[in-house]
Amino acid sequence: MIKDNQITFNNAKLHGRDFLTLADYTKDEINYLLDLAEYLKDQRKKGITFEPLKGKTLGMIFEKSSTRTRVSFEAGIYQLGGIGIFLSSKDIQIGRGETIADTAQVLSGYLDGIMIRTFSQESVKELAKYASIPIINGLTDTYHPCQVLADLQTVKEVKGALHGVKMVYIGDGGNNMAHSLMIGAALMGMELIVVAPKGYQPDPTIVAKAQDIAKSHGAMISVMENPKEAIANADVVYTDVWASMGQEAEQAKREIAFKGYQVNEQLLSLAKSDVSFMHCLPAHREEEVSAGVIDGKHSVVFQQAENRLHAQKALMTALMS
Ligand code: CP
Ligand code: NVA
Repeated sequence: MIKDNQITFNNAKLHGRDFLTLADYTKDEINYLLDLAEYLKDQRKKGITFEPLKGKTLGMIFEKSSTRTRVSFEAGIYQLGGIGIFLSSKDIQIGRGETIADTAQVLSGYLDGIMIRTFSQESVKELAKYASIPIINGLTDTYHPCQVLADLQTVKEVKGALHGVKMVYIGDGGNNMAHSLMIGAALMGMELIVVAPKGYQPDPTIVAKAQDIAKSHGAMISVMENPKEAIANADVVYTDVWASMGQEAEQAKREIAFKGYQVNEQLLSLAKSDVSFMHCLPAHREEEVSAGVIDGKHSVVFQQAENRLHAQKALMTALMS
């Protein structure tokens, strides 16, 4: 139970849980996190200190680069009264072959939670299996649930609701963002169309999982190839880089494959006139998005980036306090 002067949050159901994919959470649990995120954002804007994680420590393992995830988790745990320890995989023994199982058990003795950014979702599952403290997925090749939690908060802010909102994701349908957005949109009753060329479409097992969730949540999840067709009536248009971390060698090949999938002024003009443009960042201007769109009036990318802080503070508070 988190008590503050003005509000009581009952986090009993989330305490001690891992956050590996949104698929492990219910709609009510996500709504709980979004409400808490909104509350924490408001407290911060008012300059009110709220420290439910006093004396707690978060370990942050990074096998890939990061600006937003690292800084928002580190600043977030500090603002909640705790501290964060940055652990580059290059500098810890995991980089020299110490097993994930041993690392998990050792770190569980020191820390109150671990955030990990790595390549394989299996590694995160393995860490969670052997750790006795909450494990948070800070991005794998398969999923990026923390980003989607912040994205849901952002959509709610800009559109006033999640249920019934039409989002069109254009670009690499096979990456972590597309996969996590499908699960998040399905749970929250949104319409999501992932638009990608053949060969770059989402993992069919994740599409099936999202469509299955969608059935009982009033959502619609589909995959298309034609951006112009999909974008009609879109409330939100989302894109991400064409080559994710670890795919740098495919950059040139992907630039050819994704030609025609750039979100630019011409394409965006086919969506609703009050469409919001979203991107998890980092962005490559004039590749997946034109500078005019990402720096233009429809863009909410920096609101999204800021919400990483608030959404993850809610997550850490719920899992670790
Ligand atoms: N969006 C996101 O996760 O950014 P970073 O790679 O900078 O953490
Ligand atoms: N799909 C991108 C997201 C970065 C936050 C990547 O994995 O590089």
